[in-house]
Amino acid sequence: MPLPNINPTTTSSWEKLQEHYNKINNVHMKDLFAQDGERANKFTIKWDDFYVDFSKNRITEETFKYLLELADEVRLKEAIQSQFSGEKINKTEGRSVLHTALRAPNDAEFYVDGVNIVPEVHQVKQKIQSFTSEVVNGDRKGFTGKPFTDVVNIGIGGSDLGPAMVVESLQYYKNHLTTHFVSNVDGDHVNEVIKKLNPETTLFVVVSKTFTTQETLSNANTIKNWFLQSATEDAIAKHFVAVSTNIESVKRFGIDENNVFPMWDWVGGRFSLWSAVGLSISLAVGYSNFDSLLVGANKMDEHFKNEDFKSNIPVVLALISVWYNNFFKAESEAVIGYSQYLNQFATYLQQGIMESNGKSVDRNGNPIDYETGTLIWGEPGTNSQHAFFQLIHQGTKLIPADFIGFVKSLHGNKDHQDKLTSNFLAQTEALLNGKTKEEVIAEGADESIVPFKVFKGNKPTNTIFINKLTPESLGKLIAMYEHKIFVQGVIWNIFSYDQFGVELGKQLANKILQELNISNVNNHDSSTNNLLNYYKKSV
Ligand code: F6P
Repeated sequence: MPLPNINPTTTSSWEKLQEHYNKINNVHMKDLFAQDGERANKFTIKWDDFYVDFSKNRITEETFKYLLELADEVRLKEAIQSQFSGEKINKTEGRSVLHTALRAPNDAEFYVDGVNIVPEVHQVKQKIQSFTSEVVNGDRKGFTGKPFTDVVNIGIGGSDLGPAMVVESLQYYKNHLTTHFVSNVDGDHVNEVIKKLNPETTLFVVVSKTFTTQETLSNANTIKNWFLQSATEDAIAKHFVAVSTNIESVKRFGIDENNVFPMWDWVGGRFSLWSAVGLSISLAVGYSNFDSLLVGANKMDEHFKNEDFKSNIPVVLALISVWYNNFFKAESEAVIGYSQYLNQFATYLQQGIMESNGKSVDRNGNPIDYETGTLIWGEPGTNSQHAFFQLIHQGTKLIPADFIGFVKSLHGNKDHQDKLTSNFLAQTEALLNGKTKEEVIAEGADESIVPFKVFKGNKPTNTIFINKLTPESLGKLIAMYEHKIFVQGVIWNIFSYDQFGVELGKQLANKILQELNISNVNNHDSSTNNLLNYYKKSV
């Protein structure tokens, strides 16, 4: 069954939400907490090692009821069913969307065109497992007989951001291999990485679903040429592996067919870290940790598929986000991880969220007259407190934020962990309550300064408190956001799994690249003509 295509603004729940918004948009959360001693318990979901408190939002039980009705009215349950059953819900590209199959146990069944894809997924997982152990144990060696010390992941977008974020997040679990990521077509990026490498002991993983991406192929060629300054062509088979759907192009590049890890068109690039795209994760932290990441994601998949919407974490987070995006007209959301390990988490989510839901045409092909994809941004706390929190606390914009924290630290330094957690808890409390004029005066502030020290509060946050950062809990966390993206796409009646918006710039860049050899270009707008001719003259 295709995804239902219902304009959310025509539903009765949308109308109720609009009327309800008009009544409660000025209500202060502080009063909601004062009126109901059970509020926090009512709006908390405890699941596995996750404690998700969404009570610090500008919602009442009535809001929640209407949001849940909205999920029903857009037929979310049916949409989830269509996704998991392998329907070609990525209609504009004619593909199924089955990243969930990549983390399913080997007795699960996921069908694409009538064929169960799980056995093939597990064959590739076995290949990842044996390759990883050979490299990590030093059984697989470079062209001079030395074991590998470094791994370079060459890819961009989904072929870079997911693996890079997970390797950073799980660095506590890392082995002796040093992992590098080359993504940007900026030659300075690849050269900065190359200068740290010894060709005799470096393994290169070229990751490109299509194997046509300019950045990745340019970087892979530059690295191959650098490598061949020290080695002969036959050494390429020992040092280069690829992850791709395009086996022919990989072979043409010179990579041995046995060194190709396949992937499939039913995995979107930005949802692909669970496939062989995650090979560099497996190499960095070992296969069993990679597998635990997948196990965690699978647990979240089961929760998402089976749990009632009122206690379904991705569904609830998605509905709350729609509430702010479409009724409060909040333009962005922040994701603040209270763990330095989550340094790249927001950057990773930017592709997932903004490439998926940055759409303005609905599933009927009509232009949309309501808001869709949110802007997403963030940095770890406590660093961000000393950077942009001023604007969240006292600026004019409403910025709903997810606060992600871990009860236990990995290195077990209690003093630091207590301080970190105090900040984690204090910030959401401050954002909720703010500080009144009376409180500022009671603190003895000079009268002329009082207005500047008042905080209005009423700033919404979700607290996602997880027991400990492990490969499994990270898998759950990532999958939680993946499903949130899907739910929002269903509600907004858009196709979340295509990305035609990235094509135009690529086409024009190719055209301009050709024109760099032509003198005096004048077939663009005058600004582009001038800039292009200026570059040619000055470079
Ligand atoms: O920029 C668009 C995009 O297609 C992403 O969706 C994708 O993750 C990235 O480029 C890389 O593509 P590939 O893996 O085919 O090189």
